[in-house]
Amino acid sequence: MVEFRLPMLPQPGEVVWSVKINGIDVKLNIESNAILLDVLRDQAGSLGTKRGCDMGTCGCCSVLVDGEPRLSCLTLAAELNGHEITTVEGLANGHHLHPIQKTFTEFGGSQCGFCTPGFLVVSSALLSENNDPTDEEIKTAIEGNLCRCTGFQQIVDSIRAASDIIKENNSIEDSTSAKSNPHPGFMEGG
Ligand code: FES
Ligand code: FES
Repeated sequence: MVEFRLPMLPQPGEVVWSVKINGIDVKLNIESNAILLDVLRDQAGSLGTKRGCDMGTCGCCSVLVDGEPRLSCLTLAAELNGHEITTVEGLANGHHLHPIQKTFTEFGGSQCGFCTPGFLVVSSALLSENNDPTDEEIKTAIEGNLCRCTGFQQIVDSIRAASDIIKENNSIEDSTSAKSNPHPGFMEGG
């Protein structure tokens, strides 16, 4: 009788993973083949990053890598060494919620809430690039995220409302800086 043996697969080694998560320097030992979603949830404590399908189809696990949305269930953590990761826990500014967090609660963008972290993260990336998106641009930005509860219109409404808050905040900041410098462009001693 011929003995059949499966070839031994090499075991993954550990690597030192050095990243910034939500503005904080983090250094962890991770397996070289670890998936970002697992590292975030099991080692970095980001339980806000949700595991939905685990195969790239629902968007629940979305995070930002250097400001760009990324599916953490399809990302090798080790390849992000030296990069900056933002999870849903990093959207608020201290005790101040991000406008998108406020409007999701006010406009019904979040119901059971399981998909919400992914939508918040992806929407925040859209609004930081474009604070006046059209409905089509909003739908394109969230097309990789699934929600079973809301029917999506409340999510689009929430993002639209957040864009209005951001525009209003920007115009208040502009008028405040104009008052503190009534002659913008005029350099003292120039
Ligand atoms: S858990 Fe990553 S896309 Fe669904
Ligand atoms: S709010 Fe329940 S899946 Fe989106």
